[in-house]
Amino acid sequence: MSPQDMVVAGAAGFGGSATPADEVVRVSGVSRTFGRGEHAVQAVRDVSFTANRGELVAIRGRSGAGKTTLLNLIGGLDRPDSGQVVVAGHDVTSAGEAELLRLRRGTVGFVFQTFGLVPILSAAENVGVPLRLAQVPAAEREQRVAVLLELVGLGGHAAQRPYELSGGQQQRVAVARALANEPDLLIADEPTGQLDSETGRSIMDLLRAVVHARGMTALVATHDPALIDLADRVLVLRDGRLVDG
Ligand SMILES: Nc1ncnc2c1ncn2[C@@H]1O[C@H](COP(=O)(O)OP(=O)(O)OP(=O)(O)O)[C@@H](O)[C@H]1O
Ligand SMILES: [Mg+2]
Repeated sequence: MSPQDMVVAGAAGFGGSATPADEVVRVSGVSRTFGRGEHAVQAVRDVSFTANRGELVAIRGRSGAGKTTLLNLIGGLDRPDSGQVVVAGHDVTSAGEAELLRLRRGTVGFVFQTFGLVPILSAAENVGVPLRLAQVPAAEREQRVAVLLELVGLGGHAAQRPYELSGGQQQRVAVARALANEPDLLIADEPTGQLDSETGRSIMDLLRAVVHARGMTALVATHDPALIDLADRVLVLRDGRLVDG
């Protein structure tokens, strides 16, 4: 069995009798305003949509359209003023801090534009961080990290620190880290924003392959039209609202 097959097989049982049609994300009438009075910015306005298992959904929109704000609300990094977010059956909106922490550590994986790796840790150690937090025993952790690095094509780079890796390789490490706890949902905010177009496309290809193979769901904010066609579905935000195409 190849490492990729192992990851895929390991994830297949995750979520029990899940079918590809299962709903993983439900966003209902979500709004978020920053500031108040005449300085108030309605960053997200009455947004509703759902996303299913095995689906990669791109979120497009100009700078300031509300993409990051929406992803933060879905991932439990911020709370809406109104509306509801449900991720893999967890009501993110009504969750207390302890439940949000569990959600961020187990149910949702995050990938950011700036990679967010710990500079003094090797690639393998960075990928292992979520597993340490989840108190996975060392031997199992090492084995899972090796499988994850193999999956993202970095099997030979385990000992390198972020500054010894290219931008694309660093983002692959970040993707492996986001996948470490087998999340139901991967949230990626401009994951290719700091990469050249070819490298960006290879990261998007990787996300797409993982989502389809493991039956995960991914929400990916991106400006890049070339990456949009890799998505199963595209949502467009304009001034905080979802609009057609
Ligand atoms: N913490 C905050 N405080 C005040 N205003 C904010 C805050 N976060 C976002 N905003 C405002 O909300 C609006 C949406 O911002 P957001 O970062 O969600 O846009 P975006 O679509 O991600 O843009 P970009 O493509 O540049 O990343 C903007 O007008 C922004 O200035
Ligand atoms: Mg943004």
